[in-house]
Amino acid sequence: MQIISDVLSLGKVIDQLKQLNKSIGFVPTMGALHMGHISLIRMAAQQCDVVVTSIFVNPTQFNNPEDLKNYPSTLPQDIALLEKENCQILFTPTKEEMYPNGLKRMNYPLGGIDQILEGLKRPGHFDGVCTIVHRLFDIVKPNKAFFGEKDFQQLSIIQRLCEYLTLDIEIVAGSTIRESDGLAKSSRNLLLSKSHRKIAPIIFEQLKKAKSNYGKKDLNEIKKDLVKSINSTPEMTLDYVEIIDANNFKPIQTVDVKDRPMVLIAVYLGKIRLIDNLLLND
Ligand code: PAJ
Repeated sequence: MQIISDVLSLGKVIDQLKQLNKSIGFVPTMGALHMGHISLIRMAAQQCDVVVTSIFVNPTQFNNPEDLKNYPSTLPQDIALLEKENCQILFTPTKEEMYPNGLKRMNYPLGGIDQILEGLKRPGHFDGVCTIVHRLFDIVKPNKAFFGEKDFQQLSIIQRLCEYLTLDIEIVAGSTIRESDGLAKSSRNLLLSKSHRKIAPIIFEQLKKAKSNYGKKDLNEIKKDLVKSINSTPEMTLDYVEIIDANNFKPIQTVDVKDRPMVLIAVYLGKIRLIDNLLLND
């Protein structure tokens, strides 16, 4: 695996690959890699000639300075993990390389889905995500880019970003990888205290309960049950829970066969914020 930290050198390698007609699969990450990331890298290796992974903790998408300061960094382990996978290039740029004109976020008109849920609770977050993904796409020039359904709103936003920028990049979704107790894998899980880690699977248990009640109870009841169960866990603070149509992010109240009803949730366990989601009717 080649490890490249500057834009110019990566650009040269990408140009060579393009000349050889190699297809490029790209997996952008912020590091502290786990099986969620690796599953995307394996998909990319199956579908493309060359896999590029990036590790860059992007300051402009953090609305909370504490969260940025505490974000885990495990680069030596990440490299060791990637060496065992079919990843040919690791891009680890500096802030200066990614933001030569200072840490500014661009604005993208994404039809409002960046203003709800995560976007509402983390102002500027998705503009920061789009700014960095746009820049990375410009540099890596992938044929396909791989994003996890764990961050379903982000995945949908990146699809809309590509449409808006008329980029010829196929966005491929990877399903959520979980710990054996159901907790969605996340770099932030490393930051949970032992006791919080123990109770964190409650989130997915409640999502599964919501799914098992789909079609039996009305959606408002299902949502109320979720709110109640999280609120009755003293260590947890609910940030939001919403049932939306995954096609367009419109809140839904009634069951309709045309919808893809999805429950999305964000919960604080102490200072650590965890998100998860589940389709209710698949
Ligand atoms: P990060 O949180 O490192 O995630 C990188 C990719 O891995 C994202 O597409 C995310 O959805 C996916 N992922 C994370 N946990 C997963 C899991 N348990 N199962 C499946 N996929 C999972 O998301 C980001 O970084 C950043 O916002 C980024 C897109 C890199 C822009 O800075």
